[in-house]
Amino acid sequence: MGETSIDLQPDRAKSSALKQLATVIELRCVECASLYPGISDQPRYRCDCGGVLDVDTTIHYPMKQEPASQKEIETLKTSEGDVNIFAGTRWRQLFKQRASQSIAWPVNADEHLPNSSGVWRYRELILPIPEHFIVSRPEGNTGLYPVGRENCGNHRPGHRRIGQYAELDYLFLKHEGENPTGSFKDRGLTVGVTMANLLGARAVACASTGNTSASLASYAAQLGLPGIVFLPATNVAAGKLAQSLAYGATTVQIEGDFDDAMRLVEQVCNDLGIYLLNSLNPFRIEGQKAIGFELLQQLEWKAPDWLVLPAGNLGNTSAIGKAFRQAHRLGLIAHVPRIASIQASGANPFFRSYMSGFSHREHVQAQTIATAIKIGDPVSYSRARLVIEETNGIVEEVTDEEILAAKTVIDRSGIGCEPASAATLAGIRKLVKRGVIKREEQVVGILTGNLLKDSQTGIPQLKRGDAITASFEAVRRSLTSKLSF
Ligand code: F0G
Repeated sequence: MGETSIDLQPDRAKSSALKQLATVIELRCVECASLYPGISDQPRYRCDCGGVLDVDTTIHYPMKQEPASQKEIETLKTSEGDVNIFAGTRWRQLFKQRASQSIAWPVNADEHLPNSSGVWRYRELILPIPEHFIVSRPEGNTGLYPVGRENCGNHRPGHRRIGQYAELDYLFLKHEGENPTGSFKDRGLTVGVTMANLLGARAVACASTGNTSASLASYAAQLGLPGIVFLPATNVAAGKLAQSLAYGATTVQIEGDFDDAMRLVEQVCNDLGIYLLNSLNPFRIEGQKAIGFELLQQLEWKAPDWLVLPAGNLGNTSAIGKAFRQAHRLGLIAHVPRIASIQASGANPFFRSYMSGFSHREHVQAQTIATAIKIGDPVSYSRARLVIEETNGIVEEVTDEEILAAKTVIDRSGIGCEPASAATLAGIRKLVKRGVIKREEQVVGILTGNLLKDSQTGIPQLKRGDAITASFEAVRRSLTSKLSF
């Protein structure tokens, strides 16, 4: 902890909401299981042993909306450690009813917005706070595209090419690039900035390879709070940098890589009293769990065999793994999917650790064209390691060439994604070829960021000299040479 205490100024309504929240959450060290209060005067991001923290929430079914007899109330007070099929049915009904509400901004936003958000729809499992404190765009509600050879249907041959490339019959891609700022980070930042709001923080900050910063900048701007982003100079895709600048964040460019920026931002936040919103902040992880809940709901709570995603700082692997564990313990799903985390081979510390049976934690000097996952010392290593072990999961690596080839397939299908996201498909293809994923198994892959985030890497570029004269004959000649009709 630093020298200067954070300048928190919650008003009375927020103080009472925080007091209420403090009765249902605790922070648990992932390394040594030490417990800390969920809310304290000085925000805590690490255990005294240096380990990262996880939010432990006592989950209550919302009796306010569903009046029931005293006997039922007892049954429905479901804690994570207690599989309760009856409660599972009630939760499913509640989430279904909330999801059926319009996702457009309602006139009375305070009343309906949380149900429209693909994060806050699951609020009892994310952050149980009064709805009017929520800072939301709203986020989530992202597409789950059936793209396998069998589950694609007959009318989207473009999409089916993805299934053919992966050699899989039942494949879905969940496109988190369809979030408000174009990446899955919005799910974590809506919760992180909501906590900043409740705590009365005077500023928020993060280190980022570009997407977290864009998201933080947007949500902080919505709240009218200064946002500060630490970026590794020359390593952030232009679209992401443009977002942070446009949303008005204060940008600190570091001569170094993401790992340098991460070390610095933690120190700066602790010492200058700024609220840290990297996934080191355990409330970020709580928000990202909603990717897991939402995809399970889209699959009508029939869990897939595999969940495959790109891995950098390992926040998302940790979050989705935790969501699956909770969904299982609450009786929402019958089994926990296996999780496959895919790293770029030039930025593969987690893969190396996995290959050593997690006997030691590896660090690398990261190098990959997928700048979003160019990370050599992932913060959420211990959380993600638990997830891989608990889900009988796997860590795989793919080369930049494999990432670019997979990206071209996703782009040409009309879906499109940024380079890091394509590690998902490259990884799926590799795991199918290796026989780890069986061809008949059902797989969900996460696409983490929008195509427009990085409009340079892996996309054919037009040259000025390619322009033709503005005449019908020139256009006809040009098209005949390019297309065969
Ligand atoms: N895909 C994209 C598009 C990302 O932006 C990131 C992380 C990841 C995958 C990896 O997710 O870190 O949870 O393992 N981007 C962070 C950022 C580091 O700063 O935007 P992870």
